Amino acid sequence: MRPSMSLIRSASRVARRTYSTESVPQRKVAVLGAGGGIGQPLALLMKLNPLVSHLSLYDIAGTPGVAADVSHINTRSEVKGYAGEEHLAAALEGCDVVIIPAGVPRKPGMTRDDLFNINAGIVKSLTTAIAKYCPHAIINMISNPVNSIVPIASEVLKKAGVYDEKKLFGVTTLDVVRAKTFYAGKAGVPVAEVNVPVVGGHAGVTILPLFSQATPKANLSNDYIEALTKRTQDGGTEVVEAKAGKGSATLSMAYAGALFADACLKGLNGVPDVVECSFVQSSITELPFFASKVRLGKNGVEEVLDLGPLSDYEKEGLEKLKPELKSSIEKGIKFANQS
Ligand code: 2OP
Repeated sequence: MRPSMSLIRSASRVARRTYSTESVPQRKVAVLGAGGGIGQPLALLMKLNPLVSHLSLYDIAGTPGVAADVSHINTRSEVKGYAGEEHLAAALEGCDVVIIPAGVPRKPGMTRDDLFNINAGIVKSLTTAIAKYCPHAIINMISNPVNSIVPIASEVLKKAGVYDEKKLFGVTTLDVVRAKTFYAGKAGVPVAEVNVPVVGGHAGVTILPLFSQATPKANLSNDYIEALTKRTQDGGTEVVEAKAGKGSATLSMAYAGALFADACLKGLNGVPDVVECSFVQSSITELPFFASKVRLGKNGVEEVLDLGPLSDYEKEGLEKLKPELKSSIEKGIKFANQS
């Protein structure tokens, strides 16, 4: 069953009280940045997820209200809101999965990298707290620029002596969600049946959808494939421009974040063959971090899958993305080690 459908069906099963909590492990999930544009709908979607037993909503302000609101929904998890750094320890203690959408969004004309100066510091301090209070948690990094933020987190965790490369993920699921939607529209196939791997990173040309591997197969011309690739790469910017100064993707990002967290929880619970694309420590190219299909298991990453056969256009795209992705990764590592 597709994850989105399974999430919704499982949630409604809970609402009908036909689901036994005894057979499902207790799992504490924290959302850091839960008062924000992504954090609030993400809190709602995680409240609908029956795999979550404790939902911890942290932000510098506003979370008691968000927590009170979603806590009235009659699903399994117990919800607690934490506002202010003095409550971060309590928010994190015992967490299995920590999802981080904290930070500022883009305005028109900005790249994700323009957020670096603000978001890098925020994520650095949140990761320092994770290292202290829940060092074994799986981390789902949404804050941008993901291509630099994930390497920053890895350095922080290394310095604290708790880095486990199997548990640190950059969430690139929205690129996959967009690629599926755009492909279905052009190929005229049911969107719910579409699969498209998206590899590389999470910014502009570093986002490389592999439409040659898309299913169901469709005979799309090279022009169509190029247009689909470009639209997927610019999907975030399309939303930033449409919102005209009021931020970036929040609802679709929350949906994608919830899908990926659900996959991590399924992996933790031992569900077999859970595969999603994610930006992780990797050796499938010469770059130390790279997004590709990843098999998720009880310890996080079970296997980083290789790229599979690429078209000439994709091979070219892969070589083109490497310099930008390399420099974003290096920027993150340098920041973590200097500041
Ligand atoms: C996006 O791709 C917010 O980075 C996110 O729209």
